[in-house]
Amino acid sequence: MQKKFIMAGVMGWPIEHSRSPTIHNYWIKEHNINGAYGHFPVQPNHLEAAIDGLRALGLAGCNITIPHKVAAMKHVDWVDPKAQRIGAINTIVCKPDGMLCGFNHDGFGYIQSLYEAQPTWHASAGPVVMLGAGGASRSILVSLLDSGASEIRLLNRTQSKADELAAEFGPLVTAYPWSELNDTIEDCKLLVNTTSLGMQGQAPLEIDLSNLKSDALVSDIIYAPLETPLLAAAKARGNTTVNGLGMLLHQARPAFEAWFGVLPDVSQKLRNVVIASF
Ligand code: ATR
Repeated sequence: MQKKFIMAGVMGWPIEHSRSPTIHNYWIKEHNINGAYGHFPVQPNHLEAAIDGLRALGLAGCNITIPHKVAAMKHVDWVDPKAQRIGAINTIVCKPDGMLCGFNHDGFGYIQSLYEAQPTWHASAGPVVMLGAGGASRSILVSLLDSGASEIRLLNRTQSKADELAAEFGPLVTAYPWSELNDTIEDCKLLVNTTSLGMQGQAPLEIDLSNLKSDALVSDIIYAPLETPLLAAAKARGNTTVNGLGMLLHQARPAFEAWFGVLPDVSQKLRNVVIASF
């Protein structure tokens, strides 16, 4: 008997840049699944209709990307508590009874990428310095707190946004002025850049790493380029570095499992396929 055809995809605007189809279609082939994953260009004024359409078309679900991650929350029937705290969803799962459930796996992907680079890493090892207070930083902040981080120092160009996050997420999160960047990293165990500084076509992050201890992990959620000036400088000093590719690949795993019934691995071959697509 022909296996049931399973369909999922990613909604965003614009969407052509998304590497999610490359990742999910790789796994669909690897696991010999009768299914497909597509790009769905959805303009903001069509978001509600497009999400409703998942149910109408019998899709297994979809990923949600820029600019819909916050707005999509109000168009699903149920939102996972972690996604509620993050304030955004990146995955919708359509249940057999038609219920649409929203999840956010971005922070999970980030934490997995750290374990992959340094299996002994643990969030409670010491202070975390986090740069940026945008959408991506919320998912990472919540996941670091849930993983047991003992202290998170938040620095953002617009300090009021860092202050707001610190007030919202409680006593383990403290906002510092951007001008104190070089001092706050002195005893940190993890430095994470969630700003767009260092991205292709953007200015690099201006930072002096001379205070950084050699056992600090340095991570950037940017994957284009794979090695930002921050990571190159950290690597040159001997620090372990983590680029944004692992977060991109690992966030996809739980969604794939929910839709297609198999928890896939992140292999070197998959990495190579995705890198070749940049
Ligand atoms: P994302 O969803 O990727 O986090 P975002 O919500 O637009 O995107 O957030 C972008 C982050 O990069 C913000 O923290 C932003 O700082 P501001 O809140 O001050 O805007 C940061 N950022 C962007 N350009 C920057 C720059 N030139 N210098 C410092 N920070 C910058």
